[in-house]
Amino acid sequence: MKRKALYRPTVEDAIEIGGIETLHPGGFALTRRTAELGQLTEGLRVLDVSSGRGTQSIYYAGEFGVDVVGVDISADMVKTAASNAEKAGLDHKVQFRIGDSQSLPFEDNSFDVVINECAVGIPDDSQKVLNEMVRVAKPGGRILIHESTWRKKLSNDEKGEFSERYGTTPLELAEWLSMLETAGVKSIVYEFEQWSKPEMFWKIRKDRDVKHWFFTMSISEKLTTMGRIFSKYGFAGVTTVMKNERVFYQAVLAGKLGYALFKGEK
Ligand SMILES: C[S@@+](CC[C@H](N)C(=O)[O-])C[C@H]1O[C@@H](n2cnc3c(N)ncnc32)[C@H](O)[C@@H]1O
Repeated sequence: MKRKALYRPTVEDAIEIGGIETLHPGGFALTRRTAELGQLTEGLRVLDVSSGRGTQSIYYAGEFGVDVVGVDISADMVKTAASNAEKAGLDHKVQFRIGDSQSLPFEDNSFDVVINECAVGIPDDSQKVLNEMVRVAKPGGRILIHESTWRKKLSNDEKGEFSERYGTTPLELAEWLSMLETAGVKSIVYEFEQWSKPEMFWKIRKDRDVKHWFFTMSISEKLTTMGRIFSKYGFAGVTTVMKNERVFYQAVLAGKLGYALFKGEK
């Protein structure tokens, strides 16, 4: 079990409750780079694992002409994503369905490109997520993930507490590489330092380029998010999430936590 109730709501919970469109560090710059490395071109069939509000799936289809299936465990996320695709006039190119990334509801060898933006470390068994991504990719298909990655050696206690507060499990670079290899991913390349700079971490939004973590959400978005956290978790939830956020930002600023993009082939 990865998450204890002690630190709920986690940073991930707060981001999801916030209602903002892009739910990962690096924002659209990283999504664009992921699509470029994945060599998305018209006619390819792409799976977006843990597709959230559908922002990335819609972007891949709109910008590169690919056909996308997004899958997410949350019925609310899937509903929002489908409605966003319809609003964008791309519902003929992008479909969403509910499913668990640890047991994907697709046949073997179904997709040319399989992407997971920022959600390999969230479920209990990240290795299963990677195995499943490889299973549903066609032979020679491309696999892309980006995830939180330690930049310094830390004790297991510090890592464990941090993961519980964050709501996802960062790993060391060598651990991610080894898990990808175990899943059967070949010819792996990665980009680490450039996505680990604090100014990239804070840049989680499409149109918001901020230099300080405090401004990643606007003041009104912060107030709305805190209001929602209060209704769901009470006052203790608000103070817990504030502490969790502080621990998270300090880890980034201290150079302990970074962010890495990986690409390989089946
Ligand atoms: C950090 S968000 C990333 C969303 C999107 N890929 C993005 O980058 O904006 C994590 C997403 O993972 C989804 N998720 C969590 N556990 C999952 C699971 N076991 N299977 C599929 N999706 C899951 C959540 O519902 C949420 O939408």
